[in-house]
Amino acid sequence: MGSNENKNIDYDQGTVSTVQLHDSVRRENALPREGSGTVGISIIVVSALVLIFGGGQLFSGANGFSDSIYISDYYKAEPRPALGGDGGDAAAVAWIDSWTKDGKKVYGNCIACHQASGLGIPGQFPPLIGSEWVDGGTARMGAILLHGISGSFSVGGQAYNGLMPAWNTLSDEKIAQVATYIRREFGSLPEGEDGVVTTEMIKAAREQFSGQAVPYQEAELLAIPEGEMLPGAKVDLQTGEPAEG
Ligand code: HEC
Repeated sequence: MGSNENKNIDYDQGTVSTVQLHDSVRRENALPREGSGTVGISIIVVSALVLIFGGGQLFSGANGFSDSIYISDYYKAEPRPALGGDGGDAAAVAWIDSWTKDGKKVYGNCIACHQASGLGIPGQFPPLIGSEWVDGGTARMGAILLHGISGSFSVGGQAYNGLMPAWNTLSDEKIAQVATYIRREFGSLPEGEDGVVTTEMIKAAREQFSGQAVPYQEAELLAIPEGEMLPGAKVDLQTGEPAEG
């Protein structure tokens, strides 16, 4: 073992040179204080790249973290399944509910005169509530809605003398919907009568009353038998399909 391999310790003498002992301390750089060290440039570059590309990826592809990334353009939500019980039909909106809801929209054409309440304006516009014309058969109703009324006209014992416009520019479906709406909402119908008027019935009325070119006079409407109903199949209120039997 050569003496130059262990300069600091003089083995022969059995002593340690203080100066030589501090050689290494002078040679090395001072250790950085904890927390003040520097980070390698490569770590910084790699971290920056991860942030830039990763961030770009998230913001371009994740749609602002919205859950709509799972919904494509052609997606159509299925109706919610029924809560318990036997099958989804009960949960779906019954045909009659959407039919009268649409009828209520068409009734927007009528509220200026008959009012949203169906009570009309005394002396000017007759009420639909308590009206024998609304409670009566659908044939008179179809005739009134398609061609209108003019001249003196009596409703519930009250005399009116205005003009009920013709609505034959509306589709058969819309006339059927509004007729259903006013009969079910404002009428007091005979037992067993559901108040439904179908597109098919208004189509038949259009044919039956096609000879009428001007609004009806009261006498002409009275000539249609009070209880006469328009031809057409009764429908199932749930499905709107022709009812069995
Ligand atoms: C511009 C006002 C006006 C509008 C709008 C109007 N009506 Fe009338 N309606 C009258 C008048 C007036 C009479 C009575 C006829 C007369 O005086 O000659 C009447 C009569 C009636 C009658 C028979 C009498 C009764 O009170 O039951 C029904 C049914 C009726 N209208 C339904 C409707 C429906 C449904 C609408 C909308 C689609 C409508 N009317 C829109 C003015 C109007």
